[in-house]
Amino acid sequence: MQHNQPFYITTPIYYVNDVPHIGHAYTTIAADVLARYWRLHGRDVSFLTGLDEHGQKVQQAAAKAGIDPQTHCDKLAPQFQRLWTRLDISNDAFIRTTDPQHQSVVQRYLRQLYDQGLIYRDSYTGWYCMFDERFWTEKDVADGLCPDCKRPVEQLSEYNYFFRMGQYQDRLIEHIKTHEHFIRPESRRNEVLGFLTTQRLGDLSISRPKSRLSWGIELPFDTTYVTYVWFDALLNYVSALEYLPDGNPAGSRFWPADVHLLGKDILTTHAVYWSTMLMALGLPLPKTIFAHGWWTVDGEKMSKSRGNVVDPHEMVEEFGADAFRYFLLREVPFGQDGDFSRTAMITTINSDLANGIGNLLSRTLTMIERYTDGKIPAAGPPAHAELETHIARVATALPSTLERGFLALAFRDNLQAIGELVRLCDEYIDKTAPWKLAKNPDDAPKLKTVLNTAVRALRLLAVSLYPFIPQAAKQLVGQLGLPLDLATTLPAEVYQWDTPVAGMPIAKGPGLFPRIAPPTTAATPVRGQDRSASTIKGVTHVSDVPAAPQPTAPTPAPTTAPTVSDQITIDEFMKVQLKTAKVLSAERVPKSSKLLKLQVSLGAEQRQIVAGIGKTYEPESLIGKTIVIVANLKPAKLMGIESQGMVLAAGDTEVRGLATVLEDVDPGTKIK
Ligand code: MSP
Repeated sequence: MQHNQPFYITTPIYYVNDVPHIGHAYTTIAADVLARYWRLHGRDVSFLTGLDEHGQKVQQAAAKAGIDPQTHCDKLAPQFQRLWTRLDISNDAFIRTTDPQHQSVVQRYLRQLYDQGLIYRDSYTGWYCMFDERFWTEKDVADGLCPDCKRPVEQLSEYNYFFRMGQYQDRLIEHIKTHEHFIRPESRRNEVLGFLTTQRLGDLSISRPKSRLSWGIELPFDTTYVTYVWFDALLNYVSALEYLPDGNPAGSRFWPADVHLLGKDILTTHAVYWSTMLMALGLPLPKTIFAHGWWTVDGEKMSKSRGNVVDPHEMVEEFGADAFRYFLLREVPFGQDGDFSRTAMITTINSDLANGIGNLLSRTLTMIERYTDGKIPAAGPPAHAELETHIARVATALPSTLERGFLALAFRDNLQAIGELVRLCDEYIDKTAPWKLAKNPDDAPKLKTVLNTAVRALRLLAVSLYPFIPQAAKQLVGQLGLPLDLATTLPAEVYQWDTPVAGMPIAKGPGLFPRIAPPTTAATPVRGQDRSASTIKGVTHVSDVPAAPQPTAPTPAPTTAPTVSDQITIDEFMKVQLKTAKVLSAERVPKSSKLLKLQVSLGAEQRQIVAGIGKTYEPESLIGKTIVIVANLKPAKLMGIESQGMVLAAGDTEVRGLATVLEDVDPGTKIK
């Protein structure tokens, strides 16, 4: 890929019949990620989004609101623009089909096709779907319902203007066959080919009589008609290049578009209508039309009547723009349908962002502050040669892996590849245990290697994650003290593993992603459980040992053989649910020398546990370890922090070692 080529990416232009929802946000975020990626790599990017303001749907929405359509559009347009700002969408141009410049381009092209005899007038009788604004043939309509939206259709007969779409059928089939990436993903390409090779492509009605619909662009050759909304809308992709941004022609150099991104429901209009329109106009076809899947919400179709429409504004407010962007592209392979749920979103944010990249940054910076005076050290001798070689290999390959992924619009694969480097770095830190190296001055050179390696990996992670989570990536770079401007094209050295980083002072700041409390249902304790009743023989109830005032006094562990009254029945014991848990992250509770705040995974669920083990363990040393917890303990607050369980450890007055299991078992496994 030559990195100075233009890159033109578009989203559909959205109907202004309602406020934006997750479906609009999805396409626009995906387009933004690509735009940011290619800008970073030096391509001359034009990213277009905008609004489809004509047609029946908009006219009806305005009528319902009791205002004229233009006022309605002017009212709704800023809502889309505000959302794009909040979601960090870096579009270069924003088109509205009511822009006078767009309207005149549409009229010019209509005139051209009419003059070339490619538009003709004819009468037509068919089944019309008001909602989809399209005619269906007799065989399409079953039980009087629109095959698409299942609403009743009505029979309509009228004169209209037709575009000679049918004559391009063979050429279109040929184009699809000879251009492997023209329609993506492949399943969609096959769908379109299947339909084109088995059915005769008819001509397309491109007008609506004003008597039926007045809100549209007038036909230049018959003022009693307006243009069919799709004919008007599709042309936005080329009209915008004539006057945007800022009234300037951004240039024909961007045509043909590199990628038209859209949802699967509007693939036919793009792959067939648009392609044949371009053929008729003598313009080249876009390089790729990519149809992504649809989101359901908690397993159900999203709809206003169900009241389950996901409002992107709420998502940004609650989780932040980066987390929302990340989730949408991480959850499902681009092209397939996905299900949106808050639980899935919280799980992903916690595991990949808070405990993944966020935690890697914070543990690295904490160690640099503590062990190397807040300056990134130069690397010394290997601390773990095997893992260092592995990390170097993965990091060296990552930029080209990501480029391949972005060329294929495989956002999820890219995020997985990035996640793999995060995971490897965590493993490396766990295995080299810098907190142990720090105890022996002879190990200081190795300690420096570990920290230097972690920072170089974080630099690469920052630039790799920037297209997805721009705000967090900028913070990451800032906290590492690296002089990188992510809004510009980055020099190639930034991606090279060996480029040095030593000597720079870091500037540790707040965590990149706050952990989000998991939904509470999973953590509901068993009734009747009481903290004071939960001392188990042989281990210390460690989470009850905070440095500051204690909520309840810990029950001392028995030092002599239990008396009969101390004995418990098997039933009593069985009430205690012991489980294995994997430590995802650990940090000290401020102002406490003993308390650590742990985030642990129980497989399907995540918990926060506050444990008095901070005198024996450095938080960084616990990450990735499997420990044993009491899982059905009533949640309690220690120094104001909720603890949703208790860690088991050996020791009497002081903690000597954490309880664990001999074999490698999954987190959340029951202990009997
Ligand atoms: N105005 C036309 C597009 C004209 S492009 C020249 C239009 N607008 S729309 O507002 O109805 O839809 C815009 C996009 O939102 C489509 O790509 C559609 O697939 C997408 N989505 C609508 N609901 C969706 C989900 N539930 N999930 C994902 N995307 C969905 O069509």
